[in-house]
Amino acid sequence: MAALAIPLFNCVPFSVQAPRKVVTSPPAAATRASPLTTSPISSPLSSLKKKVLVPIGMGTEEMEAVILVDVLRRAGADVLMASVESELEVEASSGTKLVADVGIAECADEVFDLVALPGGMPGSVRLRDCEVLRRITVKQAEDQRLYGAICAAPAVALLPWGLHKRKQITCHPAFMDKLPSFRAVKSNIQVTGKLTTSRGPGTTFEFALSFVEQLFGGDVAEGVGQKLLVHTDDYQRKEEFNKVDWSFNQTPTVLVPVANGSEEMEVVMLVDILRRAKVNVVVASVEKSKQIIASQSTKIVADTNIADASKSIYDLIILPGGTAGVERLQKSRIVKKLLREQMEAGRIYGGICSSPVVLQKQGLLKDKIATAHPYAIAKLTGQVAEKVGVVIDGKVITSKGLGTVIDFSLAIIGKLFGHSRARSVAEGIVFEYPKS
Ligand SMILES: *[C@@H]1O[C@H](CO)[C@@H](O)[C@H](O)[C@H]1NC(C)=O
Repeated sequence: MAALAIPLFNCVPFSVQAPRKVVTSPPAAATRASPLTTSPISSPLSSLKKKVLVPIGMGTEEMEAVILVDVLRRAGADVLMASVESELEVEASSGTKLVADVGIAECADEVFDLVALPGGMPGSVRLRDCEVLRRITVKQAEDQRLYGAICAAPAVALLPWGLHKRKQITCHPAFMDKLPSFRAVKSNIQVTGKLTTSRGPGTTFEFALSFVEQLFGGDVAEGVGQKLLVHTDDYQRKEEFNKVDWSFNQTPTVLVPVANGSEEMEVVMLVDILRRAKVNVVVASVEKSKQIIASQSTKIVADTNIADASKSIYDLIILPGGTAGVERLQKSRIVKKLLREQMEAGRIYGGICSSPVVLQKQGLLKDKIATAHPYAIAKLTGQVAEKVGVVIDGKVITSKGLGTVIDFSLAIIGKLFGHSRARSVAEGIVFEYPKS
């Protein structure tokens, strides 16, 4: 999506705002479930799995697609990521290669509890032009089941399909003028009957959690939201210690090693946001194949494998989280060697979620203040900034993960290029840039 010169209204960060409308009333308060570890579904009536369709096409916004899939799977939904292209592998708008679970033709006769369209360009056009998807979504609306769209998709796909009629909708600020003005709503989330619309990558957690609430109830949505660390009121968003300059004369390069079990939202948010700032990002698989299967089963094709990637030097190396993925990254001798060289040469490195623990084990957090995911932070033996989402100490940057990754990525951009570029990237993804 192009950088925007359009003022943003009601641009409240997803992190401080609960999904607005409760459509499904929650079950008894006593049954507060823990959706990550146990089934969130407690009553026999709701034991049928909720089926969700998330279509993708060439140029779909990867954060939007992956956050929708990941958050809904965490809530217990059976989510199909379906390609509207002739191939399952699809290159998303910022260059991430995703592999869909099925082709859209296989979904033609299925009944879904929710059809949710990610945005991005030209992805929204590719979705609009897919006749099978149009029929599925129109039927979805006619049969009074949930559907929704985010970013460019409400204007580019729902409008020509006629699905906006008699409904208030929102979309990305760059596409607001395409909406009929008396229906356009400048809010992060708009729920009107069975239709939910939202604004952009930075509001996708809210968008996904709104669907969790509508499908599973408010308690489940709150539980999932807490696990995602999207309620940032409990801690400070960012803190920097021992400030040093991170700027470069040439385009900075960043290596993001990934493994089976890496957290897909963390990988995709980091890579997408850095690429929007014109950072040169290389995603390298430590597995035998370039394709990895991430923690919530999203298939991502890396740019290269770690052996080839290790022939170059990177200005930054950032490890994504995801418990199983972090364990596999830790076993990679090449990653270990690259990180050690990174530290010895005084270059920048960091990690998200539980990967700061790996950095520590390899002696890379000595005398550094760091943070990590609440589940992992007890394993950090050095100085810890427990109540901070993103911690920069000299040339080391760490973060709690999931809901803090946008702040983390913007913090890197701020350090590399200054606040104005970081702020313009934040505007483009419809995310409130942190003060200070
Ligand atoms: C990693 O995931 C890929 C699929 O993307 C699979 O082919 C491979 O077997 C997996 N590797 C391991 C060690 O599980």
